[in-house]
This record gives sequence, C-alpha cells and structure tokens, in this order.
Amino acid sequence: MTSDPLQSEPLEIRIRHVRAVDAPSIAEIMNARHVNLGTQRFPYHPDTSIASRIADDPAKFKLVAEMGGRIAGYGELETWPDRPRLRHGAEIDMVATHPDFRGFGIGAALLGEMIDLADRWLQVSRLQLFVWDGNARAIALYERFGFVTEGRLRKFVFVDGQYRDAFIMARLLQDAR
Ligand SMILES: CC(C)(COP(=O)(O)OP(=O)(O)OC[C@H]1O[C@@H](n2cnc3c(N)ncnc32)[C@H](O)[C@@H]1OP(=O)(O)O)[C@@H](O)C(=O)NCCC(=O)NCCS
Repeated sequence: MTSDPLQSEPLEIRIRHVRAVDAPSIAEIMNARHVNLGTQRFPYHPDTSIASRIADDPAKFKLVAEMGGRIAGYGELETWPDRPRLRHGAEIDMVATHPDFRGFGIGAALLGEMIDLADRWLQVSRLQLFVWDGNARAIALYERFGFVTEGRLRKFVFVDGQYRDAFIMARLLQDAR
C-alpha cells in the first residue's frame, strides 16, 4: 500500500471473525518478514495451509482487524474446552499486523478484543502466550495489557539462522481487576 491509511483522519478499526474469503490477505500477513521473525510461520505458505489455519475450529477464536476496508491484522485465541483441568486457561496463539498497517494500533485492538473475550465471555482466568526474546514491540504491547513474564525458555526457537530464547508471559484475571 502506498497511501497512509491515517493520512486524513483516523480510520476506525473493526474486529470480526475471519472468513474464508480473507485468505489472500491472511497469506500476506503470514508471509511478511516481521511475522516470520516473531512467530513460528515460514516465509512461504501454500494456500492450503492458510485455508486450514483460518478454518472454523470451535476451540479457537480467529479474528481479523479491518481498517479502511482492508484486512489489517489477524489474531487467534486458543481455548482448551476438552481439557477439564486447563479450561480456565487460554493462549494468545497469534497477533500479527499486516505489513502496511504496523504502528496504527491494530495489534492493540486485536489483543484487547481477545482479552475481552477471555475475561467477559469465556470464563478464562489465565491467559498465556510465548514471545521470542528480542521482540521488543510485542513484549511492550503485552506488558501494556498486563502480561507478566513468568519464565525464559532457552534456545526455544530457530529464527532466521539462529536459536533464540522465548519468554512465557501470562495475565491472570485476578491481577487485572
Ligand atoms: C507485535 C505486533 C503485533 C504489533 O502490532 P502493531 O499493530 O504494530 O502494534 P500497535 O500499533 O498496536 O502498537 C503496539 C505497541 O507496540 C509498541 N511499539 C511500537 N513500536 C515499537 C518499537 N519500535 N519498539 C518497541 N515497542 C514498540 C508500543 O508499546 C505500542 O504501543 P503504544 O501505542 O503505546 O505506542 C506487530 O509488530 C507484528 O505483527 N509483529 C509480527 C508478529 C509478532 O511478532 N507477533 C507477536 C508474536 S508473540
């Protein structure tokens, strides 16, 4: 995209569930370099893997953020309804912004909506996530929403030619209230 979507006045961010027709935009997000670096995604994804990633799954909420009529970001909240002793927990499995829309509040909007789902609709009292050491942008975002680092996983993931540590971060509802 060449034009700044916020050039005139701030555009509204609209969150909704992903649809099959969103696949090409989701592919652009998944194939973006900043997403490859921050997640477990590869630089190339076949269409079938994108289609299965966004397919309906009763245990997952798969959200897109729209801005100016375009898909600006994608987020997944994974729940564990079939694991009775973990049912109070859930995981932010993905927050990723389209390369044309970074820094416009898309990550915050998606994360805020997933937290709202967890807190106010799903009876989730522990939200967790994994983030790679050095992903300052994501860590700042998570801290802003009350996530706390619980531990370091050493050489957890292979990223662009090197092993990297990961952090597990979590947000307990009791601390957020
Ligand atoms: C992390 C990511 C989702 C943030 O999305 P975004 O839409 O650009 O984020 P926002 O515009 O909502 O900004 C979120 C926060 O990032 C932080 N931030 C922005 N630029 C930053 C920078 N250069 N360095 C450190 N923090 C920065 C700020 O805390 C900002 O909050 P603010 O509004 O108080 O300034 C996005 O960069 C992304 O898609 N990264 C690749 C995928 C990824 O790593 N996901 C997380 C996996 S755990």
